[in-house]
Amino acid sequence: MSTKVISILNMKGGVGKTTITLNLAYALAKDENKKVLVIDFDPQANLSSGLLTYDEYEAHRKEKKVISDIFSELEQVIGPVTPNPSIQSITLDNMVCRPREFEGGGYIDLVPSELELSSVLERAGGTSIERRLHYILKNKKNRYDYVLIDCSPTYSVLTNNCLVASDYVLIPVKPDPFSARGIPLLLRKIDLHNRANEERVEVLGIVFSMVSEAQYVKSVKAEVYREHSNVFATEIRFTEHYPRGWFENKSIFETNAQLDFKNNFMEFVSEFETKIV
Ligand SMILES: Nc1ncnc2c1ncn2[C@@H]1O[C@H](COP(=O)(O)OP(=O)(O)OP(=O)(O)O)[C@@H](O)[C@H]1O
Ligand SMILES: [Mg+2]
Repeated sequence: MSTKVISILNMKGGVGKTTITLNLAYALAKDENKKVLVIDFDPQANLSSGLLTYDEYEAHRKEKKVISDIFSELEQVIGPVTPNPSIQSITLDNMVCRPREFEGGGYIDLVPSELELSSVLERAGGTSIERRLHYILKNKKNRYDYVLIDCSPTYSVLTNNCLVASDYVLIPVKPDPFSARGIPLLLRKIDLHNRANEERVEVLGIVFSMVSEAQYVKSVKAEVYREHSNVFATEIRFTEHYPRGWFENKSIFETNAQLDFKNNFMEFVSEFETKIV
């Protein structure tokens, strides 16, 4: 299978994007022996803090690059046309660290983020600003089975970078009325992107997250099912083990959550894999 690049995207905040990225990466690497690259493309840097301790993050910052560096001079990102020793080029290799490695050969590589990424939004513009992530992944991504991009919740030039670089978009939805209402807008943005760009991105599906038994949750889900066909059959259930694990740099699989919750997430992972062609 060739590398698949998937953006985990929703313009609504707090719907489970980062939690899904982290746990999906863990399950694919540990149980399916996959080589997974995760990119923290959110200035909040939540994914970075979920996978690295503070000390590990600080050590990385001293020696290596972070994702915001891809928005420096374009020549540094794609390399000078004629070699120029004064230009220190920015490549995937000098941005990644490897927070998890498993016996079966699977691993998680991470490109961390930092708040500085938000300044890209202020000076949006410049040459090929929407294609930087694509350039960085272009030649190197084939060493991975999956590239998962944890997107920030606001629509910006960062989102465009994710769409240009991705094969698929996974849309997590927390079944409350406000989150569900954002879906048509997001689908319209993806449609507009596809009309304007050669590289098409496909919607892998909508996945409900933080699902509880509350009555309003059922009615929101029913509404989404009525209006959208591409919804995952597996719903990721609500459990405090996700946030608790996160604070200890743990996936749900490393917490003492009941097997039921771990199996629930694994069902989602299986469905995720069957949808990727
Ligand atoms: N299935 C779940 N059950 C319980 N809590 C969850 C679940 N998924 C995520 N959470 C918690 O909900 C909060 C928001 O989740 P998360 O940060 O993954 O959302 P997000 O969409 O990435 O947010 P943002 O838009 O701010 O980046 C976090 O505290 C997280 O631990
Ligand atoms: Mg997030």
